[in-house]
Amino acid sequence: MVLGFLGTGAISEAMIRGLCGNAGYSKPILVSGRSQARSERLSSDYHQVEVITENTLLVEKRDWVIVAVLPDQVEATLGKLTFRSDQKVISLAAGIPLARLSEWVFPCMNVSRAIPMPPIEFGMGPVALCPQDPSIEALFGRIGTAVSVSDEEQFNLFGAASAVMADYFDQVATVSSWMESHAMEPDTAARYTTSLYHALASSTLGQAPDSLQSMSAECVTPGGLNEQFLTMCTDSGSRDTLKAGLDDVLARLESNADSTS
Ligand SMILES: NC(=O)c1ccc[n+]([C@@H]2O[C@H](COP(=O)([O-])OP(=O)(O)OC[C@H]3O[C@@H](n4cnc5c(N)ncnc54)[C@H](OP(=O)(O)O)[C@@H]3O)[C@@H](O)[C@H]2O)c1
Repeated sequence: MVLGFLGTGAISEAMIRGLCGNAGYSKPILVSGRSQARSERLSSDYHQVEVITENTLLVEKRDWVIVAVLPDQVEATLGKLTFRSDQKVISLAAGIPLARLSEWVFPCMNVSRAIPMPPIEFGMGPVALCPQDPSIEALFGRIGTAVSVSDEEQFNLFGAASAVMADYFDQVATVSSWMESHAMEPDTAARYTTSLYHALASSTLGQAPDSLQSMSAECVTPGGLNEQFLTMCTDSGSRDTLKAGLDDVLARLESNADSTS
């Protein structure tokens, strides 16, 4: 099987490094030549990665095509290409629904969406998939936790939830820089903060839904420091802001779907 990447940007690089560098994937991978420095770096790092300058050649005869250009570049990019009915097209583009993608890649009928997150480079994190397809799950399962749904409305919930990434990093950085503002050495602050957030995030992994809901309460001692901080955050409305933000992102994703009907 040959994988072709239309678009060699940040997420394609994370996926290719996850596959070839971390998961021992050895089958051929073709990448588009735009973002020349990145595509050439990948090709020099991994013998099976080949740079193809022409998108037409990249799609022709490839078994699976991964669409990894920016959402507003997808229609123009796909519109210039000819697909076959026996190919698989997997789009990583945020917010572009299956119905639109299917129009643009016709007669290819095997179209999926995926949301890989940057930590796939290190074999970590979820990869949301829609619809369910065991062979696509197997590919993404090599570099992360493949989570599939058959319903695109449910898939949009993954899309909205994935938008917390920048806020999470900002929170880690804010705690670290707050320590620095109290005259702590930056390295010491970063070492403590990153280890704390890493341990806390790791301890949520694999928790059943009920246990997940009770983790916060379980680490609160009445009258203790965690109770003080949690109460302040909830009273200030930070959880309501989180949910409202997720609703906003979801509404944006759903409006893309509506615009096709
Ligand atoms: N980054 C993430 O964490 C993430 C996660 C999940 C999904 N996604 C989705 O993945 C897609 C790519 O995101 P990204 O962050 O990787 O973006 P990016 O770094 O900006 O990469 C986009 C790439 O597409 C290339 N490109 C544009 N038009 C092209 C064309 N006609 N033919 C070939 N290549 C073309 C660009 O080349 P030039 O630089 O030459 O313009 C660039 O290399 C987006 O749709 C995004 O929604 C991203």
